[in-house]
Amino acid sequence: MAVRALIAGNWKMNTSLAEARSLAAGIAAQPSAAADLLLCPPAPWLQSVASEIGATGVMLGGQDCHPTSAGAHTGDISAEMLAEIGCSHVIVGHSERRTDHWESDAQVQAKADAALRAGLVAVICVGESEAERDAGRDLAVVGGQLAGSIPAAANANNTVIAYEPVWAIGTGRTPTVQDVAAMHDHMRTVIADKISDAAHVKLLYGGSVTPANAAELLAVANVNGALVGGASLQVEDFLAIAAAV
Ligand code: PGA
Repeated sequence: MAVRALIAGNWKMNTSLAEARSLAAGIAAQPSAAADLLLCPPAPWLQSVASEIGATGVMLGGQDCHPTSAGAHTGDISAEMLAEIGCSHVIVGHSERRTDHWESDAQVQAKADAALRAGLVAVICVGESEAERDAGRDLAVVGGQLAGSIPAAANANNTVIAYEPVWAIGTGRTPTVQDVAAMHDHMRTVIADKISDAAHVKLLYGGSVTPANAAELLAVANVNGALVGGASLQVEDFLAIAAAV
């Protein structure tokens, strides 16, 4: 099964405009041959980052979208707006949104559905908390999140799944490669209930991915790329992770 790797940078609420421009320009100057690259900057910087990456093939994504396409939703951004500004992808259901904005699986599913309607690829995030892993519930929790968050229209062309254990995000801690392998094998099986071409869906690992651990994480079966936070804010680190594919 040849699934081309995707290395996605989630910049979260980081960078000044000048930093965003220079980060995007630095990455776009050295596009990876081995992997597709996706940059998800803060929404106010999307247009500037789009012009920096131009036609290099580096892709642009939003960090969230609203379930509806327009209307009275102060502060929200629609998937259609992201598409119009040049995004190909949007992250939905990141654990920081699930926590900070109390997003449920049903809301994440509605957002993913909105992304698909707008022609975007939905990057749907799932992951267990430390307490859930300690209780031996990690596979069940992630299975439940997948069942609740993947929309009916999902397929391998319009949906990417990112496994991000909450306790590994921004902490410098990662699961063992055995634990990542077990989770990704489980996810591949679970999504087959909802996605007919499940074998071709990209399954990303996220949570403290760095140039030092990228090669071993990306070598795990059923890991088809990475969702990178902190290390995506340095050109050299992000490109080193892509080079580890
Ligand atoms: P991190 O974040 O790489 O800084 O752990 C990953 C993410 O939250 O997407």
